[in-house]
Amino acid sequence: MLKKVQISLQPLGKRISVNQGTPLIDVLHEYGVEFPCGGKGTCGRCKVKLLQGKLQADAVQQKKLKKLNLGKDWRLACFCKAESDFTIEISQFEEIILADNSTFSFSPGEGFGIAVDVGTTTLVAQLLNLKTGHVLDAATALNPQVKFGGDLISRIQSCLDGKQDEMQMLIRKKTGEMIQSLLEKHQVEISKVVLVGNTVMHHIFSGLNVQSLSFYPFESPDLGMQHFSGEQLKWKLPRETTNRFYPSIGSFVGSDILAGIAATNMAEKENFSILIDLGTNGEIVLGNREKIICASTAAGPAFEGAKISQGMRAVTGAISSVQVESGKMKCHVIGNVPPKGLCGSGLIDAMAVLLQQEKIGMFGEINSGEDKIKLASGVFLTQKDIREFQLAKAAIAAGLQILLNTFKITFNEVENVFIAGGFGNFLNLRHVIQTGLIETPEEKIIKMGNTALIGAKMFLFENDSSIQKILEKTSHINLEANSDFQDIYVEKLMLT
Ligand code: FES
Repeated sequence: MLKKVQISLQPLGKRISVNQGTPLIDVLHEYGVEFPCGGKGTCGRCKVKLLQGKLQADAVQQKKLKKLNLGKDWRLACFCKAESDFTIEISQFEEIILADNSTFSFSPGEGFGIAVDVGTTTLVAQLLNLKTGHVLDAATALNPQVKFGGDLISRIQSCLDGKQDEMQMLIRKKTGEMIQSLLEKHQVEISKVVLVGNTVMHHIFSGLNVQSLSFYPFESPDLGMQHFSGEQLKWKLPRETTNRFYPSIGSFVGSDILAGIAATNMAEKENFSILIDLGTNGEIVLGNREKIICASTAAGPAFEGAKISQGMRAVTGAISSVQVESGKMKCHVIGNVPPKGLCGSGLIDAMAVLLQQEKIGMFGEINSGEDKIKLASGVFLTQKDIREFQLAKAAIAAGLQILLNTFKITFNEVENVFIAGGFGNFLNLRHVIQTGLIETPEEKIIKMGNTALIGAKMFLFENDSSIQKILEKTSHINLEANSDFQDIYVEKLMLT
């Protein structure tokens, strides 16, 4: 039995008990902390201040700290492991939100506001001081609608089965409780609540009919901004507080992606950028300051663990990375506990490693002829899982190709590929490229973490006209309606 270690997180005021040896990244990513360089120690954005206790910095980390001009109280969370009790302050929450490494046009407001990412699986709310731009606290919860299914199709189906009112009540109640807990703890009043999420979450929260999202041409009755009074939502907030669910771009591209576009600053740049969200719906976006096109792929939530026999989200017990050390497969498990399954980044890693080791072939066949491969004690990847990976990977890769074709450009003309999504923190980019998921040099790829939440925080400070500007240049296409889609999709099923 591993020894427990107590971690105190400031300014969140949270105390967490974890197994000794747990990497700090496993703990912090759940609170919306971003790890932009993915643990290379170059960006310094994961820096934490040690307030009490011990947190070792080895020689490599010390070198990185020196390069970043950080003194003896500082640590890089991406390098640290919890070996004994300590208290840290998360520096990222003290910074004004950054987009593309430049301070976004920050115009201070008054009072406090809350940004909420209404995810299909997880909900994250952050309380901000609108004068300083600092994050004061964060709350996370599981979306209570998960009991109606993990993916959007089953949520829509449950609505059609007469459960929409119940789902609406559940999500409003849960987000209300999260907001209330933040306000009670800090004894402040808020003037604004910004909510972002995919179109299905937007519709269920707002009480819009989802029926037309269930059949071709999948049209929504209302994609627009939805305004609510606290009373309507049964939230105990001042009358003047504005509560708004931000507009969707298309039937399956919601305000989480609109927020992502804002977070990456791609709508302001001359050069082309790509945004990929490997979450529940697999949305992709390509564009620049002239024009932006987005699409949702048929990737489904494979990268969130659905349809993978031992798939799970990037939480404690998930294999988040797989590497080869001295010819042997080595898995990292989130939370330093025995493995229970694997999350999206673990799946991508496993595929890349198995390809390298020639345990699977280019067509996804298991070379031994068996129907599964052992990854770690009690965790296997089956032939069916490999097929699911291929389908999801082909959907993303083909979608990207169609978008590039639409602009008549290649990956060479794309300056940056931004990856959004919680498990992005754990992604091994070399493996992402090796499996053919994204066919671009590693240097161009930037892991952005939860872009929906970053964008929602930015919306707390922006006026409606800047959001309108993004919407005006952004359109949505149906990939499957493209005559080349099938051919490209079949081609991308191959693992290269
Ligand atoms: S230094 Fe970049 S994530 Fe830690």
